[in-house]
Amino acid sequence: MIKIGTDIHKEFFCRDFLNSHISYDPETMDWPKLDSDTLDKLRAIPFWEEAVSIETRAGKMVSAFAKTIEDPLLREAIALQGQEEARHGRLLKTLITKYDLGAVARPCQPLSRQLEAEFIEFGYDECLDSYFAFGLFGIARQAGFVPDSLFTLFDPILDEEARHIVFFVNWIAYLETQRGAGAGWLRGLKSMGNYARSLKRQYSTFGRSTNEGFTAKGALNFNINLTIEEFLDTCVAENRKRMSQFHPALLQPVLLPQLSVLVLKIIRLWPFHKTRTNLNPKSA
Ligand SMILES: [Fe+2]
Ligand SMILES: [Fe+2]
Repeated sequence: MIKIGTDIHKEFFCRDFLNSHISYDPETMDWPKLDSDTLDKLRAIPFWEEAVSIETRAGKMVSAFAKTIEDPLLREAIALQGQEEARHGRLLKTLITKYDLGAVARPCQPLSRQLEAEFIEFGYDECLDSYFAFGLFGIARQAGFVPDSLFTLFDPILDEEARHIVFFVNWIAYLETQRGAGAGWLRGLKSMGNYARSLKRQYSTFGRSTNEGFTAKGALNFNINLTIEEFLDTCVAENRKRMSQFHPALLQPVLLPQLSVLVLKIIRLWPFHKTRTNLNPKSA
């Protein structure tokens, strides 16, 4: 067992992150030919511009933060994450161009001077966003929202986001331990506060346009008739599948999976509760 916050822990989570990087170039990926029905569905999704803007800005912010880090191994790992976020931005731009989705890239918001604080805020946002993105991806795939070849193409990108959030929770635990943030339960309380602030940011995106939380808004665009139970069930299962690829010695984000399991237990205790088995698009 690895003691959290030690040099061995740092070496382990950084090496795991660096060694699991995959090479691909968005331009030369095997983009499938799509029929007009699928293209119409993709064009109806309103968050492409926001998604490109978030990923491109994340690439710049994470790369800029990496340059401020003294520790060479942490700097190398965070610089790699910066490259991967920038590549996500290029991937989305390529998708928009290849399929003529009609979205126009927005200028990125300027970076703040508090790069570490921004990286931490971004990390908690990614933990929340990715959890729901894994679930939505599974739901849309199960419902056959677009041809499976497109899901196959994007599957490794979600694994990449899973790597980012696992790296983040290990990095923040390491950092806080090194800075004497105290016992594990104190770190847990602090991270609960950070998750709560992130949830507030995500929740606010339902009411106004902002640069955060496009995954949350994406939930409204798949036109799939779901109960809360089905949605949470899929989020839990998809998250478990993505997280099963990591070494058990690494920390993983646990708040949302645990909360989801708790809510599911409560729903299933309800006397009139009934479980459906199929996820069907509303239009079917
Ligand atoms: Fe990303
Ligand atoms: Fe990421």
